[in-house]
Amino acid sequence: MTAPQPLIAGNWKMNGLGASVEEARAVAAGIGESRARVAICPPAILIHRLAQALAGTAVLVGGQDHHWDDAGAFTGDVSAEMLADAGASLAILGHSERRAGYRETDADVSAKVGAALRAGLEPIVCVGETLEQRKAGEALAVVTGQVRGSLPADLAGKAFSVAYEPVWAIGTGLTPTTPEIEEVHRAIRATLVEMFGEAGKSAPILYGGSVKPSNAAEILHADEVGGALVGGASLKAEDFLAIIRAV
Ligand code: PGA
Repeated sequence: MTAPQPLIAGNWKMNGLGASVEEARAVAAGIGESRARVAICPPAILIHRLAQALAGTAVLVGGQDHHWDDAGAFTGDVSAEMLADAGASLAILGHSERRAGYRETDADVSAKVGAALRAGLEPIVCVGETLEQRKAGEALAVVTGQVRGSLPADLAGKAFSVAYEPVWAIGTGLTPTTPEIEEVHRAIRATLVEMFGEAGKSAPILYGGSVKPSNAAEILHADEVGGALVGGASLKAEDFLAIIRAV
């Protein structure tokens, strides 16, 4: 079985205004021939503009979060279908900033994944342990527990990826060692195979947390690392392109 095609996804978080469309255009212009699929996930309000600017290029557009219901009285929220309608083809779900800041549970994330699939979005489901959990030797149990709880059975046969993002590595400049990353990615793979059988082998497992041009090659070539979810370094086309070229 061939390895899944790598995915490099940029998570702009709550950064970017209309002028940032130019940064996305620069990524598309500089990408050349890449083995990876590349996506930029801007704030929801920029999805339509990015999708228009990137139409016909190799760069996909994704959302960062959406509601678990398809429509209704949820002031301030956006639905998966709205993101798809605006031009998104993927959605980041269960990011630790949502789990911690908005108390999203595994069950919430699982319901959001269901909504993504109904809207035709490809989910990128994030998991990751806190520093306290790692220090207590609980990293593998926490992460595999999140995988089991956040991925609904209806993902079987669908395109999706899992992003391992240790909470303590996000935006801190700290990264786990390569053997630490590989240990967690292998545990995620084993869990996916347990849950989905043969199909569990084809979902890329991304690493996220302080990926930058200087560490991208080592991380991306580690065992079972099928791409990266990139925050801060995705905001500048030059840095994001350097990471894409490290695949
Ligand atoms: P970072 O963020 O690359 O800025 O650490 C990664 C993420 O939170 O997805």
